[in-house]
Amino acid sequence: MATKDKELTFLFIGDIVARPGRQVVKELLPKLKEDLSIDVVIANVENLAGGKGITNSTIYEMMSAGVDLFTGGNHIFFQEESQELLNDESLNIIRPANYSEDTPGRGFLFYEHNGVKILLINIEGQAAMNNSVDNPFTKVDDIQLEYAKEADITIVDFHAELTSEKRAMGYFLDGVVTACIGTHTHVPTADAQILPRGTFYVTDAGMTGNIDSVLGVKKEIIIDRFTSPIPKRFIWEYDGEKALNSILFKTDQSGKVVEFRRIDQLIA
Ligand SMILES: [Fe+2]
Ligand SMILES: [Fe+2]
Repeated sequence: MATKDKELTFLFIGDIVARPGRQVVKELLPKLKEDLSIDVVIANVENLAGGKGITNSTIYEMMSAGVDLFTGGNHIFFQEESQELLNDESLNIIRPANYSEDTPGRGFLFYEHNGVKILLINIEGQAAMNNSVDNPFTKVDDIQLEYAKEADITIVDFHAELTSEKRAMGYFLDGVVTACIGTHTHVPTADAQILPRGTFYVTDAGMTGNIDSVLGVKKEIIIDRFTSPIPKRFIWEYDGEKALNSILFKTDQSGKVVEFRRIDQLIA
C-alpha cells in the first residue's frame, strides 16, 4: 500500500498589523510562495484590520495574496465583522480554543492539502493576559486527544505573553504535535528548534507590520503610557520601515519537521 507523502512546506506569518502589515504580505508573499515552493501559508490576523480584529475586505485581501489559514488572539473580536467571519466555516479562520463555549467561531480546523490532513489549533495563554480563558494546557490536550488521530500534521498557534508559559507549552506538546509556534508579543525570537521528542517549536514568530513603532503602535503614545497617568488611545504607525516576520518549516514523508528557518524581510 502506498504511504501518504506528508512532505510539505509551510510558512507561518507573525501577527499582521494594520495596513502596513497587509502591504508587506501583498508585496512579498506571492513571490516567496513561488520561489520557495510553499504549500500552505498560515498567518495570525488578530491585528489585521485597523490594528485590531478582522473585516471581510482585509481577510479577502490576504487570501488573494496567498494566505490559506488564519489564526487569532485576544484582539480578534474588535471589529463588528469579526464574529460573522469566524462563524463562516467556509473561511479558514479560527480564534483561541480556550474561550467560553458560547464564543462565536471555533478554536481549531481541519485543512487538506494534496490529501494530507492538517489540524490547526489556536490557543491563548493565561499568564499576563488581561482576560479569563480556560487552562490552555488542558484545553489543547483535550483537542489533540480527540482529533489528532484524524490528522497527519498538527500545528498549534500559542498566543501568549510570557516566554516561560510558551516554552512550557512547547515541552508539554513535544512529541505530540508537529509544530508549536508562538504569537502575540510582536517580537520575533531566535529560538526556533526541534525539541527532543521531535516537535518544531519557536517562542514567537514576531510581527508583520511597521517596525519603527512599539509593536505596531506609534512609539510616542506608548512612551506616554509609561510616563503619564493620563490614558492615551492607540494610534497605529503607518510611516516608516515595515517587516515581514515569518517562519518556514518543512515536513518529511513521516510528517516530522526536518528543516526550518526564519524569513524576515524589510520593505520601505
Ligand atoms: Fe498581536
Ligand atoms: Fe494578541
